[in-house]
Amino acid sequence: MQRREFIRSSCNFCLLTASGFLLTELAACSPAYQLIKTEVVNDEIQIPVEGFSQSALQLVRPKGWLYDIAVQKNADNTYEALLLQCTHQNNQLSPNGHGYTCSLHGSQFDKDGKVIKGPAENPLKKYTTNIDKDKLVIHLKA
Ligand code: FES
Repeated sequence: MQRREFIRSSCNFCLLTASGFLLTELAACSPAYQLIKTEVVNDEIQIPVEGFSQSALQLVRPKGWLYDIAVQKNADNTYEALLLQCTHQNNQLSPNGHGYTCSLHGSQFDKDGKVIKGPAENPLKKYTTNIDKDKLVIHLKA
């Protein structure tokens, strides 16, 4: 192999390795939840249960609402539905992989909605849920 061929093949190897690394990094950056846009009917929201087979966390965005609802499937097959409204000054919260973070003043909440870092002092609003056939029902008035 001549010097020029060696350099060319080495560069190709480096490019392939770098592109594989970037693809892996991009896959790791993809969100660990699905966003479901839906409507409220009779003070309830229904979402398909099958979505939880792909991700244990679903964000529900009711039409006309200012805040999303995070629905987490727990290891014991129960569900936790939390309103992602910061209890400090009402900012929308974002999932952070182990709970929820407020970008305004830095409050953090765990997956159960309990405050783990202030300035927020109160837990997140929870909704009761139940399974009805292939739907998860979130009860907004209960
Ligand atoms: S509004 Fe969320 S910490 Fe202030």
